[in-house]
Amino acid sequence: MNKSEPNDYPMLAMQVTNLKHGGNVYENAKKLNLLPSKIIDASASLVPFDPPKILIDSLKREIKNLGFKYYPERNLRDLKEIIGRFHGVNPENILPGNGASELITWAGYEASKLGLSCIPSPSFVDYERSLNCWNSNFIHCELPKNWNNIFPQSFPLLPNGDVIWITNPHNPTGQLWGKNSLEKIIKKYKLVICDEAFLSITPNGDKESLIPLTQKYDNLIVLRSLTKIFNIPGLRLGYVIGSSKKLQQWRNNRDPWPLNSFAIKAGIDLLSNTKFYENWTRKVHNWINIERERVFEKLSRIDNLKVHHSSTNFFLIESKTSLSPNIKYLENKGILLRECTTFRCLNEKWARISLQSKKNNNVLCKEIQNSFKK
Ligand SMILES: Cc1ncc(COP(=O)(O)O)c(C=O)c1O
Repeated sequence: MNKSEPNDYPMLAMQVTNLKHGGNVYENAKKLNLLPSKIIDASASLVPFDPPKILIDSLKREIKNLGFKYYPERNLRDLKEIIGRFHGVNPENILPGNGASELITWAGYEASKLGLSCIPSPSFVDYERSLNCWNSNFIHCELPKNWNNIFPQSFPLLPNGDVIWITNPHNPTGQLWGKNSLEKIIKKYKLVICDEAFLSITPNGDKESLIPLTQKYDNLIVLRSLTKIFNIPGLRLGYVIGSSKKLQQWRNNRDPWPLNSFAIKAGIDLLSNTKFYENWTRKVHNWINIERERVFEKLSRIDNLKVHHSSTNFFLIESKTSLSPNIKYLENKGILLRECTTFRCLNEKWARISLQSKKNNNVLCKEIQNSFKK
């Protein structure tokens, strides 16, 4: 059991529960005897576009060249070079990973060496998995449950502890934290882990990135993912930026080949063409700005349902009564929402919804409305 320490913020006793993720498309399609493509998965927050042609060409090339016949290059030199150029960071300060999730495991390893971790909650459930994995001490610090629609916002907590886990924008609330407010707290901790998995997908998000500050603060590490922005959850590709000494230690301890050759080549091709990247993110941001407004407006008409503001492609809804029957009703129609009972500080009256294509958002909103009539 983890010990707790004096703290000015509400804390929750640690209890090991089933830590759940969204995105269980295969499982639900099988239950309903449907093709996975027929499921509207609003439980995982991805872009609704097919992956870009650059990516498909990259994967085809890898097959044609039989590149997977060889062990991947262990240093990941080319990929680090491209990521370094993309962010203006030295390749030595970069470590690519098998999705941000693998790197969250290693961030937990780093945190476990330093003492008490503070997890602003509700939060992405994987931080807890990672800290449990290293038998590390942690507390949950409750975030205020009301916020306005002006982003970025000031980070509202400063809990006592050694390590703080920040998610920007925050999952599951969708709040974008301002870089200036985050910089103010860096000096207070032995380690600040900032998970920017959704930052590039978020309109005006990249301005708030802490990546430039990694050169100034040795106790800051920033996690990134290519999963969300390119809709490639099955490829597994992310990276961390931070102190080369720390990252070298992670590298020494991890699997020898955590990234497969397809993910490596895809990463290189996706990040080396700036023009393509700018056009793609512009398309993604336009989609979010338009659909978020439409869906917000439609769902806000439902009695007794509060739709919370978000800076990004997912948001929380809160009902006066349990949303479990609604979620069940939708599941039977092949529509998945992220139920929130497995998020600390939330309960069955909350659900997280991710934006879909215009057509699927119309179906989603209509069926959510219907679910309240049952
Ligand atoms: C906040 C956050 N960080 C990281 C991840 C994991 O990303 P990846 O697919 O790169 O492992 C997720 C996935 O949902 C997430 O929500």
